[in-house]
Amino acid sequence: MLWRLRHDCVLTTLLFAAACGNGSTGSKDGGQPAAGEPRQAYNGARGRSFNDGWKFHLGDAPNLEQPEFDDSTWRSLSLPHDWSIELGFDQNSPGGGGSGFIDGGAGWYRKTFTLDRSYSGKRILVDFDGVYMNSQVWINGTSLGSRPYGYSTFEYDLTPYVKFGAPNVVAVRANNNQPNSRWYSGSGIYRNVWLTVLDPVHIAFSGAFITTPAVSAATATVSVATEVENLSSSSQSVKVRTTIYDADGTQVASDTSDASDVSAADGKATITQNSLTVATPNLWSVDSPYLYQVKVELLVGDKTVDAYLSSLGLRWTRFDPATGFYLNDQPMKIWGVCNHHDLGALGSAVNLRAIERQLQILKAMGSNAVRTSHNPPAPELLDLADRMGVLIMDEAFDVWEYGKVANDYHLYFSQWAEQDIQDFVRRDRNHPSVIMWSIGNEISGPSVATATKLRDWVKALDSTRPVTWASNQMANANGVEQQVANILDLQGYNYFGGYKPGDSTFDIDRDHAAHPTWSIFGSEECSDVRSRGIYSSQPDQNLHSLGCDWTAKQCSSYDIGWSDGVTTSEMYLINTSRPYFFGQFDWTGFDYGGEPTPFGNSWPAKSSYFGIIDTAGFPKDIYYFYQSRLTSSPMVHILPHWNWTAGTTVTVWVYSNCDSVELFLGGVSQGAKTFDSGATTRLEWSLPWAPGTLRAEGSRGGAVVASEEVTTAGPAAQVKLTVDRASIQADGRDVAFVTADVEDAAGVFAPTASNSITFAVTGPGRIAGVDNGNPIDVTAYTSPTRAAFNGKALAIVQSTGQAGPISVSATSSGLGAGSVSITAQ
Ligand code: GAL
Repeated sequence: MLWRLRHDCVLTTLLFAAACGNGSTGSKDGGQPAAGEPRQAYNGARGRSFNDGWKFHLGDAPNLEQPEFDDSTWRSLSLPHDWSIELGFDQNSPGGGGSGFIDGGAGWYRKTFTLDRSYSGKRILVDFDGVYMNSQVWINGTSLGSRPYGYSTFEYDLTPYVKFGAPNVVAVRANNNQPNSRWYSGSGIYRNVWLTVLDPVHIAFSGAFITTPAVSAATATVSVATEVENLSSSSQSVKVRTTIYDADGTQVASDTSDASDVSAADGKATITQNSLTVATPNLWSVDSPYLYQVKVELLVGDKTVDAYLSSLGLRWTRFDPATGFYLNDQPMKIWGVCNHHDLGALGSAVNLRAIERQLQILKAMGSNAVRTSHNPPAPELLDLADRMGVLIMDEAFDVWEYGKVANDYHLYFSQWAEQDIQDFVRRDRNHPSVIMWSIGNEISGPSVATATKLRDWVKALDSTRPVTWASNQMANANGVEQQVANILDLQGYNYFGGYKPGDSTFDIDRDHAAHPTWSIFGSEECSDVRSRGIYSSQPDQNLHSLGCDWTAKQCSSYDIGWSDGVTTSEMYLINTSRPYFFGQFDWTGFDYGGEPTPFGNSWPAKSSYFGIIDTAGFPKDIYYFYQSRLTSSPMVHILPHWNWTAGTTVTVWVYSNCDSVELFLGGVSQGAKTFDSGATTRLEWSLPWAPGTLRAEGSRGGAVVASEEVTTAGPAAQVKLTVDRASIQADGRDVAFVTADVEDAAGVFAPTASNSITFAVTGPGRIAGVDNGNPIDVTAYTSPTRAAFNGKALAIVQSTGQAGPISVSATSSGLGAGSVSITAQ
């Protein structure tokens, strides 16, 4: 059994004690995964980390792929790596504001590695989870190919070109030839890389497809189709042994196929097993994401020559055109968010903990789904979604044949779409979290012919999931978009088909009546803009259209700033009053680099305003609107802050999931208000401002069950640091998120503070990025110094790979310093 075993170390320990790393060291190149790192593995992934020991050069020159080229002066680094995020902001960047005013360009990576002589005769493969973009890869000077799409996962066979017991050089050129994206993309080898050593007889790349033809509370049938490759010189008699383990590692089903001959001439065969059953299965759901583990072993004679591990979630889905979505027969509205792939100050470099944190924040809001707008995600996102119970709308493309910006994927679509979409489906189809495939977003110049091709390529590899797309052009009932919708399984409407204020009928209602078999949903809704902590509607001063201040380039956090025709709370009511409308994906969960609508290409607006949560991960007020509608644990949330000037009349909004809320100013009741109908999504008071404390108490059945206060802060006096986790893995990758809050002398949060804060770290940690969520702050994310934005800043502290105490401090002129301790272990 070779290196295919890259998976959950808990499982791996249970199943393959001898093969699992001891978890005590950092991630060693070619070694076993470090503690924590196995969580970065994904379904069916194989190989060992090939992330360490790379050399990097920003720029281009001929012959850099040649093995004899001297790269000793190049920078040493570990992957994943996004060179763009390190560059800082550039007002003249070719991608403009759309790409976040950050440059791309061409860059090179090289890695010298030696393969043990014992691997001679094996297949040596390198897997790239994603390179942005236009990657070209060479081994020992020989070209292995190129891959234009920056979001595809691909594998190259190094076998014919490598030496054993002597150095080999793999070289990668990436060319982020801007403009090629409507959002910040990042540049380089920004996802993980794996080296795989296989027997000549092995399971193909993404080659085991695990389906659940029948699942009920009583029993589940599991089917496994395993593609076997025989690259040896003779015919081989093989068997597949599949074993299913429950979450405790107890075997619950096993089946060994009959022997099949795979001839060397054909080189390939698919072995299907249909008789695996799991009695009284623990079903996978968003509240209880129970995962079984599947081990698929390939045997030649009695010898296991390869093994493939995958999580397995036993669940079934149903989309009813009249009544919506069902998971395991339970009706469920999908309350999703669209997200781009970047991770704030970390850029696009994949970081498992940063993705996990995003999902934690979204789940705490009550969200149950993510749309991977508008491209294949990092495989780690899907692994986490499986584990954490998040439904995924897995999306392939933002363009087909016609581009949206000059150098985008439309240049490659005709040649590459089939390969890209097939690699995408093969990679992701074993994830229980993935419930639908999307073949595109707001496609320019779509045709039924192309849509049909894409749909059929998907269906050929996975007929178990519905195929959809996201269209904002459904207004014309005879248009091509309607014809495309007709050939798809689910009908995705961006902005419910185009809303014009004053319309009495929405496209979705018209189409629901005209097409009773369509399953209609909001593939993208609520392009609503806001800046955390900004209340420029207060009291209607500086309020311009969209609730934005066009001078300050900030947008109000009151729910008034739409760019798609409705506010978030209005969309909530449109959605919830339509049982047929099976869910929506809000644009967006997190702010992202680029697309600073409504300010367009207008320096220094460099990141989006659409997020429910800002780039630093700090929720905006609208987060609590969703929480109040989607969660049941009692909560109240007050906006705005309470630092105003005498004479101001303040509009106070309260979001809550309680029956009623009573508001107190300085201990004096301002009256109780009730959520008396489904249409009441917030409670409002208008109060003359006076310094002090505003307190909201939420009641259920007459008893106070939740409260929140905002207090007038005095002058900024100190910085308080808090950390999301006191302990991180000492693996060189794990990160802690350290929040700086500016406070007054009494410890009251200073909601408008903009003091400059400098972070510093001692011990085995380093600052991986600093942010504040301010869409117009063009301080480089790598700078340790940053102004607080409305009282807050964030430092992301990464392990350097050694164990020990890490101390983080934050200083600011004239303020008391803050500090926090983290243990790397
Ligand atoms: C949509 C598009 C998204 C984003 C959004 C901004 O039409 O699908 O990618 O651009 O608009 O409002």
